[in-house]
Amino acid sequence: MRIHVGSDHGAVPLRRDLVEAARGWGHEVVTELGPADASGSVDYPDIAAQLCAHVLADPGALGLLCCGTGQGMAMAANCIPGIRAAVLSDVFSATMARAHNDANVLCLGGRVVGLGLGRALLQAFLDARFEGGRHARRVEQLTAMQRG
Ligand code: RB5
Repeated sequence: MRIHVGSDHGAVPLRRDLVEAARGWGHEVVTELGPADASGSVDYPDIAAQLCAHVLADPGALGLLCCGTGQGMAMAANCIPGIRAAVLSDVFSATMARAHNDANVLCLGGRVVGLGLGRALLQAFLDARFEGGRHARRVEQLTAMQRG
């Protein structure tokens, strides 16, 4: 799987750990956006917009966005047509967000989840597959709503 990863200053250790984990599992981390450490304050909408452009330009790829809570990144990402970003903190929902909602961006909170749970959430998200069928119609409805 190709993955594009970004964070703001609120989740640098989580971003770095998940990049390392994803590479260790054999995935290709194509993009890593965000500050080198927590002192490099950036605005999460800017990172989300840049990251989502990478995801949309790379069919089949997935995105990972981390901030303090994951919420700001998800709110920004879901403004962009074609992006379905899910803030996750349990493994069942990480699987279902892909299987039923065709989520293409995982949002995690670096001040919410620890590194172990973060790895489990990313692994579940990357391993799951969209089931299509009746879910495809609903996902198309979401995209139509984003386009207005
Ligand atoms: C930054 O302090 C923090 O507001 C941001 O990382 C995120 O939690 C916003 O949703």
